[in-house]
Amino acid sequence: MTKVISLFNIKGGVGKTTTTVNLAYASAKAGFKTLLWDMDPQGAASFYFRINNKVKGGFDGILNGTHAIADQVKGSDFPDLDILPADMSYRHMDRELDEVGKSPLKQMKKLLQPLFDEYDYVFVDCPPHLSEAVAAVIILSDLLIIPTIPTVLSMRTVKQLRKFISKEQKINTPFRILFSQVDSRRKMHKEMVAYFLEKKSKAICVNNVPVMSDIEKMGLVRAPIASFAPTHRAAKIYEGLFLEVVDCFLDKKLKSIAN
Ligand SMILES: Nc1ncnc2c1ncn2[C@@H]1O[C@H](COP(=O)(O)OP(=O)(O)O)[C@@H](O)[C@H]1O
Ligand SMILES: [Mg+2]
Repeated sequence: MTKVISLFNIKGGVGKTTTTVNLAYASAKAGFKTLLWDMDPQGAASFYFRINNKVKGGFDGILNGTHAIADQVKGSDFPDLDILPADMSYRHMDRELDEVGKSPLKQMKKLLQPLFDEYDYVFVDCPPHLSEAVAAVIILSDLLIIPTIPTVLSMRTVKQLRKFISKEQKINTPFRILFSQVDSRRKMHKEMVAYFLEKKSKAICVNNVPVMSDIEKMGLVRAPIASFAPTHRAAKIYEGLFLEVVDCFLDKKLKSIAN
């Protein structure tokens, strides 16, 4: 059965896109039929796959059915990995959903579910604000990954975000926090990661992503790191992270955001 994983944080620059791109690649590499939806109008994930951030007819077109969503999906340069590109019109998703009048969740489900059902794994690179559309996608997801830089302030933001999502939005999608851009030369990063690993907190991914200049190179090469540096440590980390995601779905105690 399809598993949908969204990557979201209200902070920008925390590694949402980088993680989505590399996880989707690891999933396809493992032989799973994989879709990446670049939901962020900035189109960074589409850029990494050398795909135009353009959807024919815009979000309005796919929502009202003048353009079938399945026809907007592009193949990538990699087997088993498809991309539903970003589009500038995604900035107005909430307005478009509002105009139809029905609940955003119902509309998003009707629009996305048949497409998502074609895949084993779907990864959604969310924009950094909790719009109605993003909230709907998180509700439709089987797992929410929150990439976070391990600092006190970032963790405070995550705590606020979790509270908002669970208490105010009443969303109980299971979640995992992923420490990203971890700089082992920084005392706070090291201590924060060690603290949570020691606690064996189920809410934190065991794998974390160090800050590495080769990960930044993805922007120059425009490809997932494992595709151009398969033996690189980062490639192994994303592979491990993907296996951790798969494991999550086998874990009955998967922590819900409401706990
Ligand atoms: N582990 C990492 N090491 C080095 N640079 C990184 C790493 N993860 C992300 N970056 C860089 O940080 C910037 C922001 O990352 P990105 O994934 O685009 O964040 P977001 O999608 O949350 O805004 C990008 O320039 C990216 O190349
Ligand atoms: Mg991004």
